[in-house]
Amino acid sequence: MIKLNYIIETKGALMETIEVKICSGTTCFVMGSSFLNELYELIPQKYGEKVSVTQSLCLGQCSKQDTHSNAPYVKVADTIISEATVEKVLAEIEKRVNKNE
Ligand code: FES
Repeated sequence: MIKLNYIIETKGALMETIEVKICSGTTCFVMGSSFLNELYELIPQKYGEKVSVTQSLCLGQCSKQDTHSNAPYVKVADTIISEATVEKVLAEIEKRVNKNE
């Protein structure tokens, strides 16, 4: 797995790239993480270098008591999104992008 971490300069200020990690562990896969695959194309198209998106090994959320049924999980910066959908992930990214601008 390749992890890219960019620092980009925007309007004279340094801005850290928002990292999105889509869990591809077994529980998340079984619970439908493949429906999130369109994010690998959507995110670069919409946000360019402001946001990076990578596949992740198990994010450790599924092993917590009573949380396995909330898969699939996606991590956006330091926020874990449960029962992740494309819409929920994009909404969290949008919130963070707007906060950085
Ligand atoms: S498989 Fe996704 S959090 Fe464990």
